[in-house]
Amino acid sequence: MAVGSVLVTGGTGYIGSFTTLALLEAGYEVVIIDNLFNSSEEVISRIELITGKRPKYYTCDVTDGPKLDSIFDKHPEIDSVIHFAALKAVGESGEKPLDYYHVNVYGSLTLLKSMQKHNVTNIVFSSSATVYGDATRFPNMIPIPEDCPLGPTNPYGSTKFTVEMMITDHINAERANAKKAGKSGEQFNAGLLRYFNPAGSHPSGIMGEDPQGVPYNLLPLLAQVAVGKREKLLVFGDDYSSKDGTAIRDYIHILDLSAGHVLALDYLRSKHPGVRAWNLGTGKGSTVYEMIAAFSKAVGRDLPYEVAPRRAGDVLNLTANAARAEKELGWTPKHTLEEACADLWRWTEGNPQGYRQSPPEEYVSK
Ligand code: NAD
Ligand code: WQD
Repeated sequence: MAVGSVLVTGGTGYIGSFTTLALLEAGYEVVIIDNLFNSSEEVISRIELITGKRPKYYTCDVTDGPKLDSIFDKHPEIDSVIHFAALKAVGESGEKPLDYYHVNVYGSLTLLKSMQKHNVTNIVFSSSATVYGDATRFPNMIPIPEDCPLGPTNPYGSTKFTVEMMITDHINAERANAKKAGKSGEQFNAGLLRYFNPAGSHPSGIMGEDPQGVPYNLLPLLAQVAVGKREKLLVFGDDYSSKDGTAIRDYIHILDLSAGHVLALDYLRSKHPGVRAWNLGTGKGSTVYEMIAAFSKAVGRDLPYEVAPRRAGDVLNLTANAARAEKELGWTPKHTLEEACADLWRWTEGNPQGYRQSPPEEYVSK
């Protein structure tokens, strides 16, 4: 029998697809919804190739309340949601903030209302280290703990912050209302997962990040340089006060990140904590130059780069204090940066067109 049944919004995207994989491997049943804005349905077949299980899938926009209602009606077994569906390009969020508020905030509101109607009471939310903003303004808070004051510095970050507040208010109110009615209310729970920088792919080489437009993040851009889609990497600033002048981030293997979601969901369902935030990061910072060196090593040759001005909104150091996730969830990252780079290269080299090409023969004939 299944451990439980989960609706995964944005489940065909990068982190959502790996979390679906981890949920299926842990014995959960999964129903995915996605509008395929930044992903492809092909990933579902890849998940099936790896796990032998096929998640249910519906094309659905998270802002479409009636459609969400009809999916919850069809799947009364669902008791939890992991909510990934969102727009995530920081730069674009400064140009089109209302689009970001519409999908990320109104979409989350619509989802919470539909969950409420259908008595679905646990939610794990994809938040982001970006909610901390420039944590270096609190020098005693690097690496960053969850109780560091929040202060997003861009509209994308503001949407994540807003949704964290909305979920917190909602869950607290549901619990208080239940208590007033003489019930425990302990079934209402939320995990706010603040991810640092996701990295890597599946070691099989058949699942990975497949951004549909121009990528924004360091590793997908480096991967494009490695396959010749891009002439060189621009290093955004070498005048930071780090050991080599480039900015420091905490890169976490996608397999560890997705495992954290399953543990968080297990915790919500068994320990009933109410609302809890957890950082998911390794606690180890790497500079941009260290990342170029690590990925170049995986590729087997030096990758060209050029120093450019700092990118607006970037900060010196975003590194997690992940002690709370370790203590409460029993979560520790198991995969190294070297593995993340090797896995990313295997995926990129084998699938230069991402999911728009067939998986390697040995997988199809299995
Ligand atoms: P992604 O773009 O690969 O996945 C998001 C998925 O949501 C995509 O499949 C997209 O098609 C879908 N989607 C977008 N708008 C939708 C809508 N209106 N209705 C239904 N589906 C919609 O991104 P990802 O990297 O997997 O990120 C997943 C979540 O994690 C997002 O909420 C993102 O903000 C958050 N996050 C990402 C990172 C990162 O660096 N990748 C870091 C921190 C937090
Ligand atoms: C990493 C480092 C860049 C590209 C963003 C969001 C954050 C989260 C993860 C969603 C930085 C440098 C990058 C390039 C470079 N996403 N860089 N040249 O900015 O840490 O975080 O993605 O929630 O919210 O802000 O990640 O991968 O863009 O950058 O030098 O072409 O690489 O300056 O120091 P970032 P990133």
